[in-house]
Amino acid sequence: MAKVAIMGHGVVGSGAAELLIDHAATIEKRANEQLEVKRILDLRSFPGLSYSDKFTTNFEDIVSDPEITIVAEVMGGLHPAYEFVSRCLAAGKSVVTSNKELVAMKGAELLALAKAHGVSFLFEASVGGGIPVLHPMTQCLAANSFSQISGILNGTTNFILTKMIREQMSFDDALKLAQQLGYAERNPAADVEGLDACRKICILASIAFGKHIYPDSVHTEGITKITLADVDYAADYGCVIKLLGHAEQTADGRTAALVAPFLVRRDNPLSVVDDVFNAIMVTGDATGDVLFYGKGAGKLPTASAVVSDMIECAKHPGGMIYPAWEDGTAADAADAGKQAFPRYVRCAGVSADDLKAFGDVTVLHRDGGAGELAFVTASMDGDTLETALASVVAAGGHVLGCIRVAAF
Ligand code: HSE
Repeated sequence: MAKVAIMGHGVVGSGAAELLIDHAATIEKRANEQLEVKRILDLRSFPGLSYSDKFTTNFEDIVSDPEITIVAEVMGGLHPAYEFVSRCLAAGKSVVTSNKELVAMKGAELLALAKAHGVSFLFEASVGGGIPVLHPMTQCLAANSFSQISGILNGTTNFILTKMIREQMSFDDALKLAQQLGYAERNPAADVEGLDACRKICILASIAFGKHIYPDSVHTEGITKITLADVDYAADYGCVIKLLGHAEQTADGRTAALVAPFLVRRDNPLSVVDDVFNAIMVTGDATGDVLFYGKGAGKLPTASAVVSDMIECAKHPGGMIYPAWEDGTAADAADAGKQAFPRYVRCAGVSADDLKAFGDVTVLHRDGGAGELAFVTASMDGDTLETALASVVAAGGHVLGCIRVAAF
């Protein structure tokens, strides 16, 4: 029997406890041994549960208990999660986590620590909630060189955009609903400003390209500036607006990664990924495109990945070294913010004659769009775009919106 601990009894931690208890017989068969929850760490008390006697407020009860061999960290945040996880690994315990901030900031270091102590550090739940993507990339797709990854990596923003597109719901009402349903981060700014998706593309890019990509080298934009007018113009152009994470290798071997809203054409499979669903498209040189799809947030989908990683740890008591990547530096990352894409632009106070700096454009039309001019350009890099946007202002106009158009 393996004795396990869960650090954090929030949405994901309570889901993991539930799965470990409710599915105990199936889990025992798949792990070849029973997984018994010995301790749950939380500062709050939870009377009335069938496992209320397992709670402790003292981390030492877990790290100093030699019987506990597998620990799930589902507290979120960098501190004290980083210190707790480091100490558990150094104490010879395998650790699984759903904490993308921890993995995006400290992944290379914690993987090295796990390797040094002959234990596992697994984090399938940190990207795509219940969708298996990290293990498939490191196992089933291990024979490939990856050229790019694109995905809808945040359930909350996908839910909000879906409500705006399908129901013309306001941004604020859709965010409130996502929070009520338990999808959003503790601070929803991490969702709507793109930071959560940024952490996830860092993890995916690190796995795909073998060097740790840190969040501060990823160009990141959120969805707070998207309006219902943009949604309508996008529809006129045969597109929906999606917040995408995208990473690719440049010709000189660096990684260009960004998170930003994109207009996505309706014939792109990512365009039909709605609500809280996530999808990750991975391009391998042998396989071509492979698409992973499922629920990217929520209690049981995320807990499913946490508990599956605990089962993997039980099956590999000597440590499962993958996924693994080397530490990276800022020099391993290219500035994806300036990468060339076609652009959708919405502006006011100018006429089509004032748009010469944008080159050939396709003008879009929308009922009720009086006084506005919206158009799509050919592919432009960031510097050329800045110059063209400045020409709108110089002509006495205002730029109301500017969004990339997905060309992948
Ligand atoms: N807030 C995150 C999301 C949770 O909405 O996708 C899962 O990482």
